[in-house]
Amino acid sequence: FPLLTTPAGTIRHAEAVPLTQLAAQFGTPTYVYSKAALVAAYQAYASALAGKRATIHYAMKTNSNLSLLRLFGELGAGFDIVSGGELQRVIAAGCKTDKVVFSGVGKTADEMRLALQHGIKCFNLESVSELDRLNAVAASMGKIAPISVRVNPDVDAKTHPYISTGLKENKFGVAFEDALPLYRKAAALPNIQVIGIDCHIGSQLTEISPYLDALDKVLDLVAALRAENIVLHHLDLGGGLGIRYQDETPPAASELISAILQRLEVRGFGDLELAFEPGRSLVGNAGILLTKVEYLKHNSAKNFAVVDAAMNDLMRPAMYEAFHDMVAVQPRNGGSSGSAGNPQSYDIVGPVCESGDWLGRNREFDLAEGDLIAILSAGAYGMTMASNYNTRGRAAEVLVDGEQVTLIRRRETVEDLLRAEQEI
Ligand code: LLP
Repeated sequence: FPLLTTPAGTIRHAEAVPLTQLAAQFGTPTYVYSKAALVAAYQAYASALAGKRATIHYAMKTNSNLSLLRLFGELGAGFDIVSGGELQRVIAAGCKTDKVVFSGVGKTADEMRLALQHGIKCFNLESVSELDRLNAVAASMGKIAPISVRVNPDVDAKTHPYISTGLKENKFGVAFEDALPLYRKAAALPNIQVIGIDCHIGSQLTEISPYLDALDKVLDLVAALRAENIVLHHLDLGGGLGIRYQDETPPAASELISAILQRLEVRGFGDLELAFEPGRSLVGNAGILLTKVEYLKHNSAKNFAVVDAAMNDLMRPAMYEAFHDMVAVQPRNGGSSGSAGNPQSYDIVGPVCESGDWLGRNREFDLAEGDLIAILSAGAYGMTMASNYNTRGRAAEVLVDGEQVTLIRRRETVEDLLRAEQEI
């Protein structure tokens, strides 16, 4: 975890800043991100693709804080969006819209209009009806919409079923056998320009082989299209590269990319421009959720540490039974995992009124009330999936750069939550 350091004794730091200081300054729960870790994750992709015709579109659903968008934009990234709201974030962050690709099965006419107004790079289409709607919207604006078809290659991404997207039974993409007819239709429509093909087979992938299986199938389509004089300019392989939460050993971005480049060469498609839509692998391990132990509670079956973060702040454990490692910010007795003194097995739970409101189970900790815990690997699908359940304002977010700390989202207040109801 590149963002966590312990330069001074056993107090953990985010880069050069003690987490105790961040908790004192901003309160808890607070998301903390490391700029160095974000930049390093992005550079891993960028350097593997250096000298190639390739674009990186950050899948901003993963973490759409304006400061992170601005940072990735400055590093040269485009964005993968899934709503008009996300496009408005790109604009609000001052980033370019001409490197935006628009994914998602349910694009509304209004969202299409907004995207056409702002001249996005590509609509990643997922159905015939969507193609018809886009053609009509573009015609009404006197514009030509650039499109790619999201093909469902029906490969097993070998990941959690909730985040696997490239199987036949998933709602995503166009079935492999329906793709050619859809491209033929698209090529004949007056307000559509076919420019690419895309697929995204799932998330938290820890193996390269499903990517290569999907690539092979997509390349078969590219070849079939070429034979019909439908020439594609880019191939977008989506996102999906996994990170280490516990003991996973996902390939590095460079390994994945070199395997893909090699397969493209072998198959004679070395000239095709590439696109990627990474999300989790850019931000997941660049963020932690800092939380405080409110109460320790013991019953005959369990020890509970009730912390001030909850499922509404970090939904992944409740939703997917996802594992997030946790460490004590000030481990007792010098133990690095916080378990050298009087360790006990705790369930780390939040204050929300649901049994599903747990963040970790059976974790060894030597805890006292008031202790700080850092929940790791929380940069991806943490804050963006947060809700206001139990009328809890969403957490603050801070970005650390060496010794410098910037509040990039203030903690949400109850006034924020009530405003929309009181306005009417
Ligand atoms: N492109 C498309 C079309 C996607 O649907 C996704 C993620 C990505 C790119 C980025 O994938 P990544 O590189 O992050 O794996 N909430 C779940 C993950 C949902 C992923 C949805 N699609 C979680 O917390 O694990």
